[in-house]
Amino acid sequence: MAKKASSPNLSRRDFSKIVMAFLGSIMGAFVGLPIIGYIISPALKTQKIDDWVSLGALDGYPIGTPKLFSFTRTKVNGWERTTNSFGVFVLRKSASDLVVLSNVCTHLSCRVKWIEENQAYVCPCHDAEFGIEGKVLYGPPPRPMDEYEFKIEDGNILIHLTEG
Ligand code: FES
Repeated sequence: MAKKASSPNLSRRDFSKIVMAFLGSIMGAFVGLPIIGYIISPALKTQKIDDWVSLGALDGYPIGTPKLFSFTRTKVNGWERTTNSFGVFVLRKSASDLVVLSNVCTHLSCRVKWIEENQAYVCPCHDAEFGIEGKVLYGPPPRPMDEYEFKIEDGNILIHLTEG
């Protein structure tokens, strides 16, 4: 007596369930993935600062004495919002010749101050001194003060601020 070959028995109802589950998964992916992308995309974005910052009128800066200008910039990385403060010394060497220096010490990033009687920028952290154009005079800083690129437009000083 010959044996009857057994075949998998898939009922119509089971077949419908499998097809519906498959179609449901595809539709879920079409609807769900853009929503997930929308929710997590801010976390994947980092903002770079690349901006020209106005320091005001050139005539507002005296010739021969550095003057401090302070400003803040806000940067958004993902859901994090950070506001940084910046300080720059503008030294007007002549009517139109300038040096614009960061007030951040190149040793360990303390803020330097211009001390008139020393004719130097002095760092309070490790007593370093920089000359009027930012050259290291004394102390541990490995390099001169950082200089900003600048331009003068309509009598105003603008510096190029970049930060990754
Ligand atoms: S941080 Fe300025 S000398 Fe050390």
